Amino acid sequence: MGDLNNIEEVANYIVADGKGILAADESNPTCGKRFDSIGVDSNEESRRDYREMLFRSEGMKGNIGGVILFDETIRQEAEDGTPLINIILDQGALPGIKVDQGLKPIGESGESLTQGLEGLDERLKEYYSLGARFTKWRAVIKVGDLLPTDEAVVSNMNALAEYAKLVQDHNMVPMVEPEVLMDGNHSIDHCFEATARSLDCLFNLLDDKGVNIKGTILKPNMVTSGSEAPIKADIDEVANQTIKCLKMYVPDDLPGVTFLSGGQSDLDSTAHLDAMNKIGGFTWKLSFSYGRALQQAALKAWMGKKENSSLAQKALSHRAHMNRLASDGSWSASLEN
Ligand code: G3H
Repeated sequence: MGDLNNIEEVANYIVADGKGILAADESNPTCGKRFDSIGVDSNEESRRDYREMLFRSEGMKGNIGGVILFDETIRQEAEDGTPLINIILDQGALPGIKVDQGLKPIGESGESLTQGLEGLDERLKEYYSLGARFTKWRAVIKVGDLLPTDEAVVSNMNALAEYAKLVQDHNMVPMVEPEVLMDGNHSIDHCFEATARSLDCLFNLLDDKGVNIKGTILKPNMVTSGSEAPIKADIDEVANQTIKCLKMYVPDDLPGVTFLSGGQSDLDSTAHLDAMNKIGGFTWKLSFSYGRALQQAALKAWMGKKENSSLAQKALSHRAHMNRLASDGSWSASLEN
């Protein structure tokens, strides 16, 4: 990957040539839920085995420019003693780290404020020394009657901006993730409005705090209907509304927009990304930072058994490749068979 001398080069490297990010930063409780779905006990060793299997997949190379890790994983070694970070680097990807520490409820409406600023300075110092070159902080914005409130939007975007500044002071690229949740029966218009308010507020605060946009990656939701909405927007509408919203608030000099999948199916997340890149007309790389939409098929194929590793790796490689194609608008549904 050559010498990457500053955060702008790191950010550009991660999203170069249609590459995206593998989000493998599930906290231990979330990983437990994923493993429950395949009847596998979640412990330090099984989590290590699963992630080692993912990181050794052939399709990491050329398709994945960064991997987001959880605190436990950045310190782990593979079964043969190789640090997992070295496996990631050998695949041509940069290690990143989730640095937020979960959600604290605000009021009674189910909204929350992401925690983790306390002690962050010290933790960032350590993560850089362990090899992390980018970081992630996820803010959660809930849509509902009278939601999101201004309090939830402003306090979360403010924490994201403070985090981003601190991360850049430690020479790493901050991914800023203002996730407007799909949960609920809201319309695509309501999602548009919540996403617009969040992005508007976020980019104003990043500017206020002097964050270098050229060394920042945005990880947003796509603008979609709620997962329980009676009428669902189709692929073209999601693509058009998402681009419209991003163009209103995202500065041209941001190097990369890497979407979360947020509960969309594997195929929807790829088709939406592809449709947006086919439309084009923006300056940023438009790519992916998927957790579930990259891992679901691999997890189901793996089932906790070593003998299933190669099938599981094929599944991850396939999704990584399909999403890389979607990142330059050259995917087609016929490639899925
Ligand atoms: O913060 C969210 C994850 O990194 C992305 O996960 O693609 O399953 O929503 P997801």
